[in-house]
Amino acid sequence: MSPSAAGSARSGTLPEPQVQAMFDRIAGVYDLMNSVMTAGLHHRWRERAADMAALGPGDRALDVATGTGDLAIELSRRVGPQGEVVGSDFSEGMLELARRKAPELRFEHGNALALPYDDDSFDAASVGFGARNFSDLPQGLREMARVVRPGGRVVILEITTPERPPLSWFFRLWFDRVVPLLGRFAGDSDAYSYLPSSVRRFPNARGLGAAMSAVGMVDVRWLLTAGGIIAIHVGTVE
Ligand SMILES: C[S@@+](CC[C@H](N)C(=O)[O-])C[C@H]1O[C@@H](n2cnc3c(N)ncnc32)[C@H](O)[C@@H]1O
Repeated sequence: MSPSAAGSARSGTLPEPQVQAMFDRIAGVYDLMNSVMTAGLHHRWRERAADMAALGPGDRALDVATGTGDLAIELSRRVGPQGEVVGSDFSEGMLELARRKAPELRFEHGNALALPYDDDSFDAASVGFGARNFSDLPQGLREMARVVRPGGRVVILEITTPERPPLSWFFRLWFDRVVPLLGRFAGDSDAYSYLPSSVRRFPNARGLGAAMSAVGMVDVRWLLTAGGIIAIHVGTVE
């Protein structure tokens, strides 16, 4: 990464080609780093997010910014063999790992800001730890709502900044000091400095809820878990 790109990474803003290149680069360590950083809890958060999509056997779901596919796999358990789950991402490095992990699912190249799917073509759309990376959040939300049929759900699983001590202190220590250090051991300190910065500049839970309502979703709700570090939002498409 060039010095100016490294500076942008630390500020939590990167142009799309650099986000894509960063995930291509860290794909090989991504799953392991998730397990180390969350003590394995990320699987439980994905289960809760998948539950909030309220899918049933035979349904169709889209997992946007699917990465190595873990949330798509969780959704596929709810739709069963009669249903279909598509995972979409713009990092071929991440998609390659997802395809190896779950060859029975469809993993396709696509930009979340211009999804290559028809209107109303899914019963639900989800994004796990991806919305924070969108260069235009309202556009990403509009696209997810567009491809979901009326009455279907949009689910967003994301890291959020706890506002009250002592968790806010722990969060700062963990994300600002420990995570970049772990990233250095994993061989990519810039990527894991970008992570806490991108969390800091992302809207808080109330702000994300408002952004979902602003693009026309209704019945927008969220739950906070992991002591307020993780937010799972759900909205219904009208
Ligand atoms: C932190 S990873 C999350 C992966 C996965 N959803 C998970 O739960 O672990 C973020 C993913 O978002 C993807 N991404 C970021 N912006 C994107 C965009 N505009 N279009 C498609 N994928 C995007 C990246 O390539 C990366 O795979």
